[in-house]
Amino acid sequence: TAPDGTAPTGTTPTGTTPPELFTWEFATDPYPAYAWLREHAPVHRTTLPSGVEAWLVTRYADAKQALADQRLSKNPVHHAGDEQTKGRTGIPGERKADLMTHLLNIDPPDHTRLRRLVSKAFTPRRVAAFAPRVQELTDQLIDSFAQKGSADLIHEFAFPLPIYAICDLLGVPAEDQDDFRDWAGMMIRHGGGPRGGVARSVKKMRGYLAELIHRKRAELPEHPAPDEDLLSGLIRASDHGEHLTENEAAAMAFILLFAGFETTVNLIGNGTYQLLRHPEQRARLQESLAVGERGLLETGVEELLRYDGPVELATWRFATQDLTIGGQEIAVGDPVLVVLAAADRDPERFEQPDTLDLSRRDNQHLGYGHGIHYCLGAPLARLEGQAALATLLTRLPDLRLAGEEGDLRWRGGLIMRGLRALPVEFTPE
Ligand code: HEM
Repeated sequence: TAPDGTAPTGTTPTGTTPPELFTWEFATDPYPAYAWLREHAPVHRTTLPSGVEAWLVTRYADAKQALADQRLSKNPVHHAGDEQTKGRTGIPGERKADLMTHLLNIDPPDHTRLRRLVSKAFTPRRVAAFAPRVQELTDQLIDSFAQKGSADLIHEFAFPLPIYAICDLLGVPAEDQDDFRDWAGMMIRHGGGPRGGVARSVKKMRGYLAELIHRKRAELPEHPAPDEDLLSGLIRASDHGEHLTENEAAAMAFILLFAGFETTVNLIGNGTYQLLRHPEQRARLQESLAVGERGLLETGVEELLRYDGPVELATWRFATQDLTIGGQEIAVGDPVLVVLAAADRDPERFEQPDTLDLSRRDNQHLGYGHGIHYCLGAPLARLEGQAALATLLTRLPDLRLAGEEGDLRWRGGLIMRGLRALPVEFTPE
């Protein structure tokens, strides 16, 4: 068994042949394959399931450097793929729906301008003021299944919490939020699969947001109310007299939803799952919560992000010139994918990287990225992750997996890592 008392989930492939990627086994536990790549092929060219060829960067030092390397562009126009693979690198339906101006698809100086504007509205202060609402949502969702004695924590808890939270924060009226739940459900269920439904949902969401922004702009009072919503804040934000256009504001609202939704679902899902697999660590956390301490919760959520984070690969980057990463030559136009999940288990950077240690202090993980695209929503994600895990463990103290661990299924998407379902049992409240 591993030092933390759990059985290892796989063995590291040996030998000189690269492990098979993107199989079912890989989706279940990619870490042994990443250990092999870090050791033997730290910058590795592979063909993705979509047919696109890309470089995978797996060592921490290379990953950190690549994330901050301005020669790697976020703009898909720099992708030199052939006609067949071009356009397979973005959010489905994105091109058609005219959402190209969002933060994860653009470079400075446009990125700098948009990020500065959104940062004026999406402030740490606004997020901190939102904490009571997040706690209320968390409790309401747990209320909805606490008396049953069993639940699917993905479907009934991890999935709705971030959707309702971000809708509330943006100022989507309560009566429209279930539409968002449906659209988001379509995106998460079919993210890696048939595209028609996803593209339609993206389009509907985009159309709805454009109209809502238009309405809010027309009704914007001259002076902000103390509890003004984020969309109104985005419309109001200005920098040297410049504002977001309606198109930019809609794209911004959309990326906040898109980037803030499945990631947080997976933080809650993967985090709860790993706590259930590590009973000693989980007991320590429960004891500290019982005496009103938050320190272990705070370092613990960071450790869960490092150990089994929601974003397995950072989003697409494209070489704008010939360059070298970790000694490997990369040609202009080549896509580069930074494997955050591999970098965050690099033994060159983390002591005992395969051990979950909720009290880990030296923990500069890359789970939120690095450089100018560092996660804008990190304060909100921390707030939601901490509220969700602390409340679950406190209200349902004997929470346990229902069924066999081997029956759990992971979504096979490229960028995200998360469970399809997490069936649990507990003593009813
Ligand atoms: C960017 C992770 C939650 C909004 C990123 C990136 C990562 C990340 C890795 C950088 C991607 C890259 O460089 O390719 C996470 C994780 C989350 C989370 C692990 C949850 C645990 C959120 C939330 C929001 C959000 C709740 C907003 C409501 C954004 C935005 C960007 C971003 C807007 C783009 C920033 C830019 O390009 O300047 N996130 N995220 N994220 N995230 Fe998050």
